[in-house]
Amino acid sequence: HKTATEELQPTINIIKEDLQLIHRDILQHLGCYEQELNELAKYHFDAKGKLIRPMIICTMARSFNQQQDNFLHENQRCIATLGEMIHTASLIHDDVVDSSDRRRGKPAAAVQWGPKKAVLAGDYILGISSVLLARIGNSDVVSLLARVIQDLVRGEFMQLSTKESDAEQFQDYLNKTFCKTASLFANTCKAAALLGNLRDINLNQLADYAYEFGKNFGMAFQLIDDLLDVTSTDDDLGKPATADLKLGLSTAPVLFASQQFPELQTLILRRFSESGDIERAVELIDQSDGKARTYHLAQQYANEACRILSEFPQSSNGSNRFLNYLIYLTQSTLERRH
Ligand code: FPP
Ligand code: MG
Ligand code: MG
Repeated sequence: HKTATEELQPTINIIKEDLQLIHRDILQHLGCYEQELNELAKYHFDAKGKLIRPMIICTMARSFNQQQDNFLHENQRCIATLGEMIHTASLIHDDVVDSSDRRRGKPAAAVQWGPKKAVLAGDYILGISSVLLARIGNSDVVSLLARVIQDLVRGEFMQLSTKESDAEQFQDYLNKTFCKTASLFANTCKAAALLGNLRDINLNQLADYAYEFGKNFGMAFQLIDDLLDVTSTDDDLGKPATADLKLGLSTAPVLFASQQFPELQTLILRRFSESGDIERAVELIDQSDGKARTYHLAQQYANEACRILSEFPQSSNGSNRFLNYLIYLTQSTLERRH
């Protein structure tokens, strides 16, 4: 009897090849004659990235193209490439904003080159991404990816302040999570749907499903990220743990914990700025059901993502291995350790 992963192996291999091409494309697109900028821009595109964004986008794109042997169109692959480039540009900026010194298992770009050059490298990657996006020549797709960039900046900006009441804090956290993470998955999945040359089906409906899948997957993915921040070690993550609390940020585990231990509100509002605040917060999170509720919420988003996949048109033989792989990826995001 074959295990689930064994059955998926041929599909996994196809996507792996897509990712290799994307990696090659990224390095090629970023090449320039300015030697230091060249090196700096490519620095974080190494083997340590999970490439989860292009993985989801390529699998989604191939799942649509059933009438065409699940072929991946060049423009769809370009969306996957852009998803990873925009994400990485935002991480380079994020490490400057967060004064974080490690990323993907090595010193952050800002540590190696200083914040000025790191910020410019992020801008450079974004600039190249804009050129590639324009080259696709589809104005709806341009709008979707422009929205991603707008949302990333809004999400990062929202994190710089804290809302007064706990109800507002949770809503703000969910909005911020959509902006920072889910928007990229949602809008790139939708873009991949629009670029599929699909016939005989309601394209707008399918694009909306793709968006909803990406949104729910992204919410689950970030909730797990926020959970790992309070459960993992620096080595597992390849970046510092309890980083969120240290930055003054309240994410799901502490927000849930504060419903049980209202004394956390004082710490949340002063953004864990006094000595002992972080230790106390960790202690109360551990005593509360904050971690379990965070996991449960992630599960709900993941279930919704899988439910949406069941609305997708199935092939004539009744199964679509790329859709099955998306379900597998959604479930594994709940189990990931880094
Ligand atoms: C990582 O969050 C940060 C993001 C996903 C978005 C960052 C966005 C910006 C800095 C705005 C600029 C955007 C562009 C496109 C240049 P985190 O700090 O919670 O995660 P981490 O633990 O990986 O650092
Ligand atoms: Mg950060
Ligand atoms: Mg940040």
